[in-house]
Amino acid sequence: MSKPLEGIKIIDFTHVQAGPACTQLLAWFGADVIKVERPGSGDVTRSQLRDIPDADALYFTMLNSNKRSLTLDTKTPEGKEVLEKLVKESDVLVENFAPGALDRMGFTWERLNELNPKLIVASVKGFSDGHHYDDLKVYENVAQCAGGAASTTGFWDGPPTVSAAALGDSNTGMHLAIGILTALIGRGQTGRGQKVAVSMQDSVINLCRVKLRDQQRLDRVGYLEEYPQYPHGEFTDVVPRGGNAGGGGQPGWVLKCKGWETDPNAYIYFTIQGHAWEPICRALGKPEWISDPNYATAQARQPHIFDIFATIEEWLADKTKYEAVDILRKFDIPCAPVLSMKEIANDPSLRASGTIVEVPHKERGSYLTVGSPIKFSGLKPEITGSPLLGEHTDEILAELGYSKDQIAHLHAARSV
Ligand code: COA
Repeated sequence: MSKPLEGIKIIDFTHVQAGPACTQLLAWFGADVIKVERPGSGDVTRSQLRDIPDADALYFTMLNSNKRSLTLDTKTPEGKEVLEKLVKESDVLVENFAPGALDRMGFTWERLNELNPKLIVASVKGFSDGHHYDDLKVYENVAQCAGGAASTTGFWDGPPTVSAAALGDSNTGMHLAIGILTALIGRGQTGRGQKVAVSMQDSVINLCRVKLRDQQRLDRVGYLEEYPQYPHGEFTDVVPRGGNAGGGGQPGWVLKCKGWETDPNAYIYFTIQGHAWEPICRALGKPEWISDPNYATAQARQPHIFDIFATIEEWLADKTKYEAVDILRKFDIPCAPVLSMKEIANDPSLRASGTIVEVPHKERGSYLTVGSPIKFSGLKPEITGSPLLGEHTDEILAELGYSKDQIAHLHAARSV
């Protein structure tokens, strides 16, 4: 099966999560991704949160599959020369260094563009260029706070809360991948590369779009009817934290199932979708609610929505989350069990679809990773293990035209 990005060469000057998540995705789809790492240490995630002494940590292996690793000290003259050769032969350079780091290394956009006018230079930064915080170094949770996610996540009587989902990191990487693919199509039209920049703050804001919707509704009418604060609680002039309320027009909540006292994930998410009200009443054995004026419309239900949830929890008390969903699915009710990571790791459907994959690794043995969430009819991405530090250095230098002696010299000078 041919891979659509075959023939696209990417200099992967990324580290930690946001950049590596982007280039890993492009590698799955066929790009030749050359991860450039500092000799001796490499990407910091190789040694972060290690579970096996001296072996690459899962943090690294799960974000760098399907890539080749080239060690290169790009601050030495020889290292710079290697990078320049690589730039001349590549289609894309992706980086997520701190603001100004690439410039300090001598590889400004102007210089890169001069070396290869067709090169696409793609960057992740914490804040966009010209933003009053554009000098800041940024990690995941900083971006979630600056992007509106933290102020709108959690319970109203608790502090702003960050999400476990990597909204600042991997999400930004996915935005960057879309930018790179767009620039590649653009290059096909103009013959020229361009700069593609995505900030972590902007990527989080993009996912918090509905909260900006809510801010404007709140400004106009003073309340948000789908939030738990309505109609009994108070609203201020900012979008409040809504706990587990649904983000759209459908009220929903996380509800206890059998065993919740000891199992932290014995819950389902239950959505009261307007047009599913009748089947919901039938599923719950409450046919009298269908025509009762206190229950018949979404507006009538809202003042006592938590009493309705409490009644559903009574119905759930003798059912596991799986049993409950098996009953509710027959009534077309949007719901799902709250799954633990252990359940996800062992889910046969996720294994069959390639979303959870087991890949071999030279030092670790096999490990689980998340495969491509994007499914194609004409491509089945094959996920391979991540490279060891510098595993492909000599191979890549030889491809760039370096002789054996020259490669030995680069090693001796510790430039690779
Ligand atoms: N050879 C030589 N030097 C190298 C190198 C190589 N192969 N790879 C990196 N370096 C140098 C950089 O040039 C930089 O040097 P300088 O500070 O003298 O200019 C230095 O290593 C450190 O890079 P930096 O990016 O500042 O790393 P950091 O560990 O201090 O900061 C981040 C890490 C993630 C906070 C920062 O890179 C950042 O804010 N990135 C943008 C946002 C982002 O992607 N955040 C992380 C999301 S997962």
